[in-house]
Amino acid sequence: MVTAIVLAAGKGSRMNSSTPKQYLSLAGKPVLYYSLEAFSKSNADNIVLVTGKGDEEYCQREIVERYKINKPACIVAGGEQRYDSVYCGLKAAAKADYVLIHDGARPLIDVETINHAIEKVKEVKACVVGMPVKDTIQLVNTCMEIETTPKREQVWMAQTPQCFSYELVLRSYQKAIQAKDATITDDAMVVHTYAKAPIVMMEGSYQNIKITTPEDIAVAEVLFKEREKKQGYLYI
Ligand code: CTP
Ligand code: MG
Repeated sequence: MVTAIVLAAGKGSRMNSSTPKQYLSLAGKPVLYYSLEAFSKSNADNIVLVTGKGDEEYCQREIVERYKINKPACIVAGGEQRYDSVYCGLKAAAKADYVLIHDGARPLIDVETINHAIEKVKEVKACVVGMPVKDTIQLVNTCMEIETTPKREQVWMAQTPQCFSYELVLRSYQKAIQAKDATITDDAMVVHTYAKAPIVMMEGSYQNIKITTPEDIAVAEVLFKEREKKQGYLYI
């Protein structure tokens, strides 16, 4: 069984909005709707939606029921940090053989990429969707002096979904939580650090942006308009 864990328990502090960014309107529907719709149309078997404490009913009524998300969506409350929310999602996905961990703040994920990621994770046990960086990245020290320039071909932006065999990612998260490791920003980082397992980077799309600051909403609107022109209809 393949379970998608969609994370939507963040506070969206960089968005500077009174409404959490996952509920903001984007091309007429809430940001969170789009990734739920993409996973429900994909080959994933079910969805665990992780929301803020107290938002479970709102999400069930205003997103899952209102937009008829048809994959069984179990809704659980998340935690303080992203990794706490991931761990809550993992505990709720106990029947999964594979999990796809996705930021609900990435509405432009497409069904093709999800299905490709499902095939890949079954083959390699751990893979992450990402893209090569377009700019040169410079590593700086605390005085803002450039220290190293990594070879551009080797620098990829990690996006989501990040996909793992359930047993591998659960074991890694258990160790990270036990170690109270607060440096975690990414699931691949957890699996790499605590299970020392190889993780394959697979190419996704530059469109799969994360809604983080207000201008990202405007960019996503443009990308959805383009998608509509290409497909002849707006939604996924
Ligand atoms: N997330 C979560 N639980 C948290 C923190 C984040 O489920 N405690 C989710 C967010 O809802 C988002 C994804 O993880 O879908 C990526 O996190 P990010 O973009 O950092 O979102 P926020 O933490 O909400 O935003 P900010 O960091 O600006 O406060
Ligand atoms: Mg955050």
